[in-house]
Amino acid sequence: MYKILVKEALVPNIYLFKIKAPNVARKAQAGQFVVIRIDERGERIPLTIADWDEKEGSVTIVFMEAGTTTCRLALLQAGDYIADFVGPLGLPTHIEKLSTVVCVAGGFAVATIVPIARAMKGKGNKVISIMGARNKDLIFWEERLRSVSDQLIVTTDDGSYRRKGLVTEPLKELLESGEKVDRVIAIGPSIMMKYCSLTTQPFGVKTIVSLNPIMVDGTGMCGCCRVSVGGATRFVCVDGPDFDGHQVDWDLLFARQRIYLDEERRSLEQWQSQVTTHS
Ligand SMILES: Cc1cc2nc3c(=O)[nH]c(=O)nc-3n(C[C@H](O)[C@H](O)[C@H](O)COP(=O)(O)OP(=O)(O)OC[C@H]3O[C@@H](n4cnc5c(N)ncnc54)[C@H](O)[C@@H]3O)c2cc1C
Ligand code: FES
Repeated sequence: MYKILVKEALVPNIYLFKIKAPNVARKAQAGQFVVIRIDERGERIPLTIADWDEKEGSVTIVFMEAGTTTCRLALLQAGDYIADFVGPLGLPTHIEKLSTVVCVAGGFAVATIVPIARAMKGKGNKVISIMGARNKDLIFWEERLRSVSDQLIVTTDDGSYRRKGLVTEPLKELLESGEKVDRVIAIGPSIMMKYCSLTTQPFGVKTIVSLNPIMVDGTGMCGCCRVSVGGATRFVCVDGPDFDGHQVDWDLLFARQRIYLDEERRSLEQWQSQVTTHS
């Protein structure tokens, strides 16, 4: 059993949990994820490792309430336990000395991009970060991302904070400005990663995205996380989650993400009615 050491509500619907998991903390690297299960009857879900502390033996995850499991998870408190916390899984993000790296994060993925930006800066790269959210109320970890970046641009869709617009706009301006960008790392909702890749393609800048298909085992056995990259079938849990965004078959990813929409909706409705009946 894995103890929740800290619970923090970052913004509405997004929570941070610090979990006691020394074996995961010892091996974690930027870009990897864990698969968790709340109890023995629970569904397995993948969540990115947002931070880790080897000395304390703790791992931080940041999650958004999306359906039954994440809503159930959000009800747990510091001091509670979860049944499974398996990881680190997936390949770490490739960290190397380039020159200028642009890290782009959409929504809760700012938590995913922070350790990557930190590692890229640690290698001596100039790191320019762009983070975007729908509105001011959904912004978190701005200072944390700023502390590991040489420059930070913040956007909100509705203009309620900092610059109005989507993350792709400052990204395009940076590329047009003549700044020699060697690598873009874009993480967030699939649609945002697709459009970041389309933005960088004409400039020929290699763009890494972290794919988020439905996963079950997280170890390459079930085939559920199958995607097509450069015409080849890849399993995100073992071959990724990072891939070349210019090579991803986005339409296939979107279609496979929607396969269980009806079941997911029914599951949430059923759980919500049980919770209401018992309260
Ligand atoms: C490698 C990876 C890292 C991720 N990291 C994070 C993270 O750090 N924080 C975060 O909030 N979310 C993350 N996700 C997404 C997260 O796993 C889903 O939001 C979660 O599984 C939803 O489960 P649910 O029961 O609450 O909702 P459901 O009602 O089951 O689903 C809601 C949505 O989540 C997607 N989803 C459902 N089940 C899974 C699954 N087993 N695997 C992946 N997606 C699923 C569905 O396509 C659906 O759109 C990550 C996904 C992947 C693949
Ligand atoms: S989640 Fe089963 S193969 Fe990747």
